[in-house]
Amino acid sequence: MSCTVVVDGFYGDTGKGKIISFLAVADDVAVVARAGVGPNAGHTVVKDGRAYKLRMVPCGFVNPKAKMLIGPGVLVNPELVVKEIAETNISDRFGIDPQCAIIEPKHIQLDQSDSNLKNIVKTTGTGTGPCNADRVMRVAKMARDVPELKKYLADVPAIANKALDDGRDILIEGTQGTFISLYYGHYPFVTSKDVCAAAACSDVGIGPTRVTDVVMVLKSYVTRVGGGQLDGEISQEEAKSRGWDEYGTVTGRQRRAAPFDYNLARRAKMINGATMIALTKLDVLFPESKGVKTYSELGVEAKKFIRKIEDEIKIPVALIGTGPGFDELIDLR
Ligand code: IMP
Ligand code: MG
Repeated sequence: MSCTVVVDGFYGDTGKGKIISFLAVADDVAVVARAGVGPNAGHTVVKDGRAYKLRMVPCGFVNPKAKMLIGPGVLVNPELVVKEIAETNISDRFGIDPQCAIIEPKHIQLDQSDSNLKNIVKTTGTGTGPCNADRVMRVAKMARDVPELKKYLADVPAIANKALDDGRDILIEGTQGTFISLYYGHYPFVTSKDVCAAAACSDVGIGPTRVTDVVMVLKSYVTRVGGGQLDGEISQEEAKSRGWDEYGTVTGRQRRAAPFDYNLARRAKMINGATMIALTKLDVLFPESKGVKTYSELGVEAKKFIRKIEDEIKIPVALIGTGPGFDELIDLR
């Protein structure tokens, strides 16, 4: 029996999708429960040569035996979720909590027109902030009120906890990143709620005493979209020349980039109580590590980088991503 929480130790977009999909299969989990804000997230899973860009459905869907759940803390866009259920073909093993709040067109309109949200915070424009505001005002529509979602309604906390009671493994899928948390990011350049490990547990109804591991995903360099500080930021041209230029899954915006930040990583470990690191995109920093699946095959410089991370952050680098593919990964657990 184990409960693993996966969170992002930087500003989002560290490659959680790949790590979660790998763990869902490698650990044969019974349940993957999606936590986080809502469809402002974009998680990419590459499986059998096909790239899935998921904003609602958990990335663990690649394990055909696992149940996919969306916890009550998460905001749901009904059209998007229905579309993704079809794309991933999970309708017979999918559940959404009746207490999820619903994003309506008015939320999206406001997110895209409010001058603070649009021009200062530079949100994803997906309606999540205004929807959370309505939720706090106790006027939001709930999943239980949406006919298209009726057949998927499920008691997510009960299913997730029962799986643990039955001795099975579960995964909690966090979204966004530690430093765009409403509490731990640099306000106001943050998303609309806390997205750290404790919040992810609360989103799906798992108590802190049940958690076995917190996997903190860190990318080999740092990126950020939207406003706010980014220490060591390099120019967009420089990012291109290093191969660090990335484009938002949800918005298509070029992400801002900076080198790996040990101070941020240390603080993220503290706030999340992380027990291990999943380091992604090592092949972008060290091209010769592309597709490598064992530690011993890595080059000297790549190994030095990993050792320095472990020395500085004081938890093991347990998973190492060496390419976008689902199994381009070193598992050191
Ligand atoms: P919102 O979450 O759409 O309100 O956007 C608030 C800030 O968080 C903006 O800077 C967004 O770019 C950023 N943000 C929200 N979700 C994600 C994500 O999944 N990855 C990266 N940045 C995000
Ligand atoms: Mg993303």
